Formats: sequence, structure tokens, C-alpha cells
Amino acid sequence: MAEKQQRIGVLTSGGDAPGMNAAIRAIVRSAIHRNMKVFGIRRGYEGLLGADTYEMNALSVTEIIHRGGTILKTARCDEMQTEEGQNRAAQICKVLGLDCLIVLGGDGSLTGALKLAKRGVTIMGIPCTIDMDLECTEYSIGFDTAVNTGIDAISKIRDTSSSHDRVSVIQVMGRAAGHIALWCGLAGGAEEIVIAENKVDDEAVIRQIISNRGKGRKHHLVVVAEGGGESQRLAKKIESVTGIETRATVLGHLQRGGAPTALDRTRASIMGYKVVELFANGEKNRVMVYEQGDYAHMDIEEALAAKRPYDNEMYEIIKVLAI
Ligand code: ADP
Ligand code: F6P
Repeated sequence: MAEKQQRIGVLTSGGDAPGMNAAIRAIVRSAIHRNMKVFGIRRGYEGLLGADTYEMNALSVTEIIHRGGTILKTARCDEMQTEEGQNRAAQICKVLGLDCLIVLGGDGSLTGALKLAKRGVTIMGIPCTIDMDLECTEYSIGFDTAVNTGIDAISKIRDTSSSHDRVSVIQVMGRAAGHIALWCGLAGGAEEIVIAENKVDDEAVIRQIISNRGKGRKHHLVVVAEGGGESQRLAKKIESVTGIETRATVLGHLQRGGAPTALDRTRASIMGYKVVELFANGEKNRVMVYEQGDYAHMDIEEALAAKRPYDNEMYEIIKVLAI
């Protein structure tokens, strides 16, 4: 008798991240290569709760490796945060006959996956978030693209701002985490970075600008993380204390879209391939991570409990280079 084909479900949840499509493509094709069936679940947990699925084939994922966003769509789903919702989602996975559910998303999405794992669903996770705030991994899909998009925007703002001898305050995404701000700040040549982790106050920012102006600088760049404070308010304060024209720009969702970089496409493809391989090898409830230059995997509960101390070195380098 022919062996029963295994059935994999795949969903993307939370904020979309460039590279999610490359990961979906890799999952679908690796699973088909292993004679598994793959079902795309639309709009994350919201779609799962509505059993909104379709069977995917190798052609379902053609022409997507280079596209930002997610072809499966994504959503934030409040019902999944309730016990009732989680029980219902686990029951739907059973009714759909899923042998494994692969979740692509950030901290919240993987927490939802853990809740399903505790209810007997076999899950696998791939860290996908531009924020890079999952402490279990040194890399999450989407970060490189977001930083490169941020740098492109910052360079353009620098042109106009330096022509006017202004201060530019640029707010980048990252929710509570300052990684995007640190990378954009270092690569963009910022004088100051304001992130939740480093507690730089307005006065310190203003002192840095006044000091650099005194040394002959005519243009100043401050990068603020979402979690670091409100950029419009800071810009007004800088202008009123220093008398230097100051403009604030919030980059916002601009950083979440666009074609994924080669790094995001590559890491997403490899993680997508490997996550299917893990399931095929009989592993359960694992999250792909990137650690010390290599791909690895962790138990989802341990992955979500992982803590990484804040490393101040990058900030210190930015400050040395800002003199
Ligand atoms: P991200 O995955 O990018 O961190 P969110 O934090 O917005 O994004 O989470 C995405 C979705 O994951 C939520 O809308 C919800 O459906 C689910 N989720 C988040 N936190 C939990 C939780 N504690 N328990 C169950 N599901 C959760
Ligand atoms: O998690 C990714 C992220 O882009 C954060 O940087 C940001 O705080 C949040 O999502 C914005 O979410 P929304 O899609 O609700 O605007």
C-alpha cells in the first residue's frame, strides 16, 4: 500500500518581512521534492481560524523569490491570543489533517505557534521580522533589506539636509528593539542614536550637535528608533534650543517593503529548505536560528525564553566616529 503523503501547512503572521516569499518558495518546493503535500494558509492565524487554505504546487511559488511582502498575506489576530482561539486553531489543524504547521513571523507569531505545540500540533518556525528582536537568533529574515532600504532613504535625506545646513532626525522602525537604528546609524554616519536600550536623553543629543557645530560641522544626523522616543518632539526641541533648522522624517512602512536583498533571499531559502528537512527527519517543534555564522535549530519553548544581553559596542563605535 502507498505510504500516506504528509501534509504541511504554512502561514505568515505579524508584520511582513522581505524574504518571506523566498522562504515560502523554499518550503513548498522542498516539501514537494520530498513527496509531501503543502497547504498555504492565508492571512496568518486569522486565516487558520477560518480554515482559509489552498493546496500549493511548484508553480504556486514561481516569480516570487524577488518580491517583498508575502503572497500568503498576513494579519494580526486577536482571537489567537485567547485560550479559546488557540484551542480552536489546534482543532482546525487536526481537521485539516496537518502533520506540521510552519509559521513564519516574529516573536508574537512564534508565541502563537508555541501555544499550538502545547495543544499537540507539530509546528516549525522561521524567524521573519525586520526588527531582529528575537533573542534566540543572530539573524531574522527581512532585517538586511530593511536596513538597506533605511540607508538608501537616509542618504537621500542627507543630500537635502546638508544642502540646507539642517539637523535631520530620522525615525526608523524596530518596535522596542534598536537593531535597525544601530545599523542605519552606523552605516548612515549618524552623530547620535536614540534607542530604548541606551537611554540617551534630549540634552545629550543637543550637546553633541552643539559640540559638532563648534567643530565646523554644518549638518547633523540623529537616528531614533521607534522605541527611543518621538522624533517630531525631539526635532522641535533641538531647533528651539540650538536655533538650527531641524526636520524630522519618519521612515515607517517604507522599510518593510521592497525586493529582498541577496542575503535575505539566501537565508530565507536555506531556512525554508532546512525546516522541511527537520520535519522529514522526525523533529518536532523547532525554530530555525542563525548562530555564529551557521544555521541551527532550537526547541521553540527554549527559543522564546532565550535572552541576549544588550551589546553596547556598536553604539560606542558610532560615538567615536561621530567626533
Ligand atoms: P510578530 O510575529 O511580528 O512579533 P505580533 O506580535 O503582532 O507580530 O504577533 C502576530 C500575531 O501572533 C498576533 O496578532 C497573534 O495572532 C499572534 N500572537 C502574538 N502573541 C501571541 C500570544 N501570546 N499567544 C498567542 N498568539 C499570539
Ligand atoms: O514588527 C515589525 C514592525 O514593522 C515594527 O518595526 C513596527 O513597530 C510594527 O511592525 C508596525 O506594525 P503595523 O503593521 O501594525 O504598522
